[in-house]
Amino acid sequence: MKKLFIKTYGCQMNVYDSARMADVLAPAGFEMTAAPEAADLVILNTCHIREKAAEKVYSELGRLRAIKAAAAGRGRTMLIGVGGCVAQAEGEEMQHRAPFVDIVFGPQNYQDLAQMVEDAARGTAVLKTEFPARPKFDSLPERRRQGQTAAFISVQEGCDKFCTFCVVPYTRGAEYSRPAADIIAEARAVVAGGVSEITLLGQNVNAYHGAAPSRTAPGSALGQREWGLGRLIRDLAGIDGLARIRYTTSHPSDMDDDLIAAHGEVEALMPHLHLPVQSGSDRVLAAMNRRYTVDQYTSVAERLRAARPDIALSSDFIVGFPGESDSDFEATLDLARRLGYAQAYSFKYSARPGTPAAERPDQVPEDVKSARLTRLQTELKSQARTFNEACVGRVMDVLFDRPGRYRGQMAGRSPYLQAVHVTPGDGEAQALRGRILPVRITEGHANSLAGTLAERAPLGAGP
Ligand code: SAH
Ligand code: SF4
Ligand code: F3S
Repeated sequence: MKKLFIKTYGCQMNVYDSARMADVLAPAGFEMTAAPEAADLVILNTCHIREKAAEKVYSELGRLRAIKAAAAGRGRTMLIGVGGCVAQAEGEEMQHRAPFVDIVFGPQNYQDLAQMVEDAARGTAVLKTEFPARPKFDSLPERRRQGQTAAFISVQEGCDKFCTFCVVPYTRGAEYSRPAADIIAEARAVVAGGVSEITLLGQNVNAYHGAAPSRTAPGSALGQREWGLGRLIRDLAGIDGLARIRYTTSHPSDMDDDLIAAHGEVEALMPHLHLPVQSGSDRVLAAMNRRYTVDQYTSVAERLRAARPDIALSSDFIVGFPGESDSDFEATLDLARRLGYAQAYSFKYSARPGTPAAERPDQVPEDVKSARLTRLQTELKSQARTFNEACVGRVMDVLFDRPGRYRGQMAGRSPYLQAVHVTPGDGEAQALRGRILPVRITEGHANSLAGTLAERAPLGAGP
């Protein structure tokens, strides 16, 4: 068997893609290794979202270049492939800047990896970054069983929103929704393989509008041509053995009534939603082309809370968008305080080549961005801690999916996506893997909870 090493950067979509790359390369005789030094093929699946993310790729490539040279010294060939959003954005430029890279391929091209590897092995430098007319999902092989307990499933990809700061519409291409029947089949396959939680993925996952399965095709009694995300989730919830459903990332302006109602009606739909707001100033939201106002966002949050009173919200924020004034930033702090988030990510605006906001003359100085970020993060961290501390004493269902940091420890996720660990000791910890069990929460920290396995069934928290 040949050895394959994949390093993944960026969002969950890339995590999904990396797993599928391994599926594509398995029939060509590749199996995974955890050591790049042992690999015949190393793939970096890259992210272009902020400058720092893209720069990391080049420092990693520097290390790989040395490993490749050392392998060559021992008479062994190691191929280097760069996929994902940096590859898509830079293409030929990457081939010039890092000529030792053998394969450069975009997020919509990895279905052809086996052929690309064959060409590269013959010494041809491979560049493949077009957006094919036929979606990659049509030619991906069946998913292999990987002993996971939770799995991502891509349901939608690409974005037509063109927020003025964002590279995604350029790197991932136009919005595409997979047919519902394909998603249901993939979900059934992973659940049969032991998965009990799925997360539906898309850059704009709630813009999902996939072809309905043929049983509801035009002409049939239920005649619906397309399904929205709410409808898809209701169907997936019927899969035997599937206990938990999540979806990410949602755009606030695509939260429709059916999806909001699903949060109150579908037991398997977990009471947590990542709903990035970016800014609390209408002026900045308009300049970002976010297509909602603070009031509209607040109303979505209120409707979600009315449908599912215990729903926990998380968010993304950008500080220092061009033209953001002190009072715009204060409005963002205000919104964070009013909404109350269980968890949140916040970033300094990073000017991305080719995006409209990068051209603006009114860029915010770096020190101002840093000061704003510190203030916002202080608020968001304290909210996360408050949320976690409020969980102490409750009994929550936890899906155990990985060993904890210490011996005899097992970690998992609460319904609200908090990391939870228990420490029942060496023998027992392993036996928890893959199970959903009630845990009495004893400690709430900034980023995680600790607890003990509980005797009684949980009240109201999750399935
Ligand atoms: N589709 C999602 C976001 C995907 S990108 C949405 O519309 O909300 C993930 C996060 O990265 C964004 O929510 C945003 O907060 C951040 N981000 C994107 N572009 C950025 C940039 N140029 N500078 C700083 N942060 C950025
Ligand atoms: Fe980027 Fe905006 Fe699309 Fe999200 S909605 S992926 S931020 S362009
Ligand atoms: Fe990054 Fe591309 Fe995802 S830019 S965040 S890997 S869509």
